[in-house]
Amino acid sequence: MGAARKYAVIDPATGKLDRRLFSEQAIYDDEMEKIFGRAWLMIGHESLVPAADDFFHTYMGEDPVILTRDGRGRLHGLLNMCRHRGNRVVRCDDGNAKRFICTYHGWTYRNDGALEYVPGESEAYYDALDRPSLGLIEARVETYAGIVFATWAKDAPSLEAYLGDARWYLDTVFNRRDGGMQALGPMKWLEPVNWKTLVDNCSDNYHVPTSHLASARVQTRYLGRPRLSHEDQFVSPNRHTFVNGHGVTFRDADDNTPRYVHGMSSETMRLFQEYHDATMPEVERRLGTFRARRVQLGNHSIFPNGILGLRLALPRGPLKTEFWHFVLLDRDMPEDLKRVVRIGSQANNGAAGMFEQDDVDNWRQVTAASTSRFGRRHPQDLSMGVGHAGPHPDYPGLVSERYISENNQRLFYRRWEEFMNAESWAEIPLDPITARFDGTATLRG
Ligand code: FES
Ligand SMILES: [Fe+2]
Repeated sequence: MGAARKYAVIDPATGKLDRRLFSEQAIYDDEMEKIFGRAWLMIGHESLVPAADDFFHTYMGEDPVILTRDGRGRLHGLLNMCRHRGNRVVRCDDGNAKRFICTYHGWTYRNDGALEYVPGESEAYYDALDRPSLGLIEARVETYAGIVFATWAKDAPSLEAYLGDARWYLDTVFNRRDGGMQALGPMKWLEPVNWKTLVDNCSDNYHVPTSHLASARVQTRYLGRPRLSHEDQFVSPNRHTFVNGHGVTFRDADDNTPRYVHGMSSETMRLFQEYHDATMPEVERRLGTFRARRVQLGNHSIFPNGILGLRLALPRGPLKTEFWHFVLLDRDMPEDLKRVVRIGSQANNGAAGMFEQDDVDNWRQVTAASTSRFGRRHPQDLSMGVGHAGPHPDYPGLVSERYISENNQRLFYRRWEEFMNAESWAEIPLDPITARFDGTATLRG
């Protein structure tokens, strides 16, 4: 017999969701152990540490972690905590260093985590210190197409199994080019929102014509983008799918439609089209014809807190999230197009992004509502599209019939329950990989 089920926050038949999971400290503390303590977490990108001895300071949940590339080119995720009394051994955002010297008493670690030098090892410790066992605490690290993931769980499945068939879709953005991608940023800021509000929003296309009405009108007027309406969203052939906790929205793309949305305007369309046409043979070779030509990844989330491509949504208590927003670009994209995508991306997402500000207001309100003593007695309603999702002959995962659906949200909270109620990874179910990965692209790029 397994342990008694502790969390039952979502009713899959009615979509009723307990609001307390957005605000209660005890639930949050449990999340840090049971979700952030064992899931594969996005922590950065290989392009942030391109050379030997580079490091980048990041986080796994609330824990400070140093992503390093050692002298032999291997990546490490090291808890930034001196094993003596606990000082942080790195105090800056990034750099290049073979060693990290703790500024309290001088214990010195190599960038692969080994404790190399202790002042007074003979004189003060009488050579009795077990130095080999006192390296920096190291997480398991694996990469997917240059994106670096880490987990504290020794019993976690491989990253490949964890991403599962979601990678079939993710490849259409992150694994397109032989030269890989490069990360710019991050732009960092804090918001008074619970970390889950923005994850479930990644599959929420229902809000787009309402929340983003003004932003979309600006785009129509000044960028020549098509108008946005509820009607279009309801009849859209686009879809949602869900795999292993990861929410994916995607478009059944036209054969000849360029992939990048940020920065596209009537003025810049020519650049996007030229790039698309020039690179399509390579993309087709890497991903196979169907994925290259017919599948376009939209908003998505990687369980638990990876969203919008490479953005870290770092929990800072139940009512606060720190955003680290990167822009990911094909490394070999022409410089003029890189500039257009970078500027376009910032205009939409990021602290000053038009669409971002619309979204953040919603997430603040949803979080605040969960603190209302009276309001929290009444659950959220996530009933849209119950019973209208299932397997699809062409698309892996559990696919919803329509683009507008709360299927992914219900499944996200069910995945949350699976992690929160499991004593170990052995109790967390994992969908088998069934998708056909045509083309030459692999997990590693
Ligand atoms: S706390 Fe780091 S050397 Fe003492
Ligand atoms: Fe939005």
